[in-house]
Amino acid sequence: MSSHDPHSPCCGGGSCASDQENQSHNGHSEPSSCCGESRRDFLFMTAGAMAAVGAGSVVWPFVHQMNPAADTLAMSTTEVDLSSVEVGQSVTVMWRGKPVFIRRRTVKEIQEAADVDVSTLRDKQADADRVKAPEWLIVIGVCTHLGCVPLGQKTGDMRGDYDGWFCPCHGSAYDSSGRIRKGPAPKNLEVPTYSFLSDTLVRIG
Ligand code: FES
Repeated sequence: MSSHDPHSPCCGGGSCASDQENQSHNGHSEPSSCCGESRRDFLFMTAGAMAAVGAGSVVWPFVHQMNPAADTLAMSTTEVDLSSVEVGQSVTVMWRGKPVFIRRRTVKEIQEAADVDVSTLRDKQADADRVKAPEWLIVIGVCTHLGCVPLGQKTGDMRGDYDGWFCPCHGSAYDSSGRIRKGPAPKNLEVPTYSFLSDTLVRIG
């Protein structure tokens, strides 16, 4: 990450994780516009769906601004109500200073992810090992190359050749399971610790 210049035009339409320390006053952490993305552009929603973000993520920025001890940060969790997210839509929430991509996958996306021959993958992981419920993919939205935030959350975003996310910084493409399929990124998008508290309420962390 240190070798990545967040002001470089290489970022294209992505946003750099290094900018995510910027805090807004509305309870969310958002990256700045280093890569041409406005704060409003970055945050959230495909097709206008809005996930209700639980108290954890609302409280988080204020805790963060107080520079809490590492163990306090390590315990932080975010609860997200996904009941308003429709099939094919995505939401982004901030958790521990990073964007978390939540996609309610279509049958096609689930099938595409499941059909991949794992032995052909750079970072060999079966889709079934990356999800708790096939319909919901939850990954940290930080490219594993140099830390840009890939495109693919918003309607009209480039998703790359594999129906997932595309990082324009250097051309990494991720599939509908968040696995690296093309470009320089060495690893799949990371799956955070999470658990479903109900069918549509998820706790991240
Ligand atoms: S940061 Fe280089 S491809 Fe994503």
